[in-house]
Amino acid sequence: MSSFPIRIISLALFSISFLPSLNNGQLARHSVLTRAKIVYHGGPILIETINVALIWYGNVSLNKKEAIANFLKSLNTDGDFSLQPQVTKWWKMVESYQAMLPGAKHDEVPKIIVNVAKQINDTSYKYGRNLTIGDFIPKIVKEHTKEAKNMLPIIITAKDVNMEGVCTKTCAYNGIVGNITLYIILGNPELECPRKCEWPFTQIDSGPKSILFLQPPNLDKAADAMVIALATTLADTVTNPLNTGFYDGPPKNSIGAGTACKAIFGSGAFPGNPGKVHIDAHTGGSFNAHGIKDQKFLLPAIWNPKTSSCWTLM
Ligand SMILES: *[C@@H]1O[C@H](CO)[C@@H](O)[C@H](O)[C@H]1NC(C)=O
Ligand SMILES: *[C@@H]1O[C@H](CO)[C@@H](O)[C@H](O)[C@H]1NC(C)=O
Ligand SMILES: *[C@@H]1O[C@H](CO)[C@@H](O)[C@H](O)[C@H]1NC(C)=O
Ligand SMILES: *[C@@H]1O[C@H](CO)[C@@H](O)[C@H](O)[C@H]1NC(C)=O
Repeated sequence: MSSFPIRIISLALFSISFLPSLNNGQLARHSVLTRAKIVYHGGPILIETINVALIWYGNVSLNKKEAIANFLKSLNTDGDFSLQPQVTKWWKMVESYQAMLPGAKHDEVPKIIVNVAKQINDTSYKYGRNLTIGDFIPKIVKEHTKEAKNMLPIIITAKDVNMEGVCTKTCAYNGIVGNITLYIILGNPELECPRKCEWPFTQIDSGPKSILFLQPPNLDKAADAMVIALATTLADTVTNPLNTGFYDGPPKNSIGAGTACKAIFGSGAFPGNPGKVHIDAHTGGSFNAHGIKDQKFLLPAIWNPKTSSCWTLM
């Protein structure tokens, strides 16, 4: 792994394997906003086009499917200019990591395209409802990506599925299976851990009591919390796919570009307070990003590699 020959690769060039890490998408830590210091470790990041396969495992509600798919489709699609800020602006911060690579041009940062290449409704619960990383992930990834090597599977579990690592340690995480395939696991916290993974829409069990709760922008706490967890983990995955890219801390417990800025959504955030956001006049939903199809999202802070601090849309 340390002898990886090139510094920038796309998914198509992956030829490596290591165990999944449970270090991303950690639960909100409210004791401090961030003490992280993300630095570059010499390895690849994801560039060019990321073909995503959305694997809905179990009976995932339509609300959740739409919120998550529309968030991904909004990353590269500019909307009505009068509606600001946009999801594309958030993604540009992820794209800006390309400029931090050795030898990169700083004036022109290429786009990173997220293409939702396919969606699979896996509703038979073929692998059961109690899933382990070592057993379930290789099987489901192989089943649904065997034809396509250049594919990032995002496995989204239904609320009646117990996925190892989800809710106990994290709300979502990324890893690698087999030789070449990256994956992201996104759990549904609705039944199992709303008080761990639905902040800032629900009071959490640990840390200082929230001063403020927000209405979810899509009026579905779990769906909007899953978008936040996916956004965090996607930022980590793109900038640190092999745990040799941009992160803080020891490799076994690394903190990525998204995870470093957990629980911050707008300027003025402090523990228990998510910071400045917009409120939808009709629904009361809180948001900070406009996406496609008039959808609104609440997107988390991410680490700005140029200023070495957490950055928010508002
Ligand atoms: C899936 O969930 C919907 C409600 O979200 C429910 O109406 C439907 O019966 C469920 N289907 C299965 C196969 O459990
Ligand atoms: C998957 O489920 C959604 C509804 O949840 C439906 O609209 C879509 O057509 C389904 N796709 C396939 C390939 O069955
Ligand atoms: C799920 O699997 C874990 C690990 O194998 C086990 O400890 C736990 O009891 C299982 N839970 C259920 C509900 O089967
Ligand atoms: C991993 O890649 C190597 C070399 O490309 C190949 O020989 C090996 O069979 C692959 N292993 C798996 C599990 O795909």
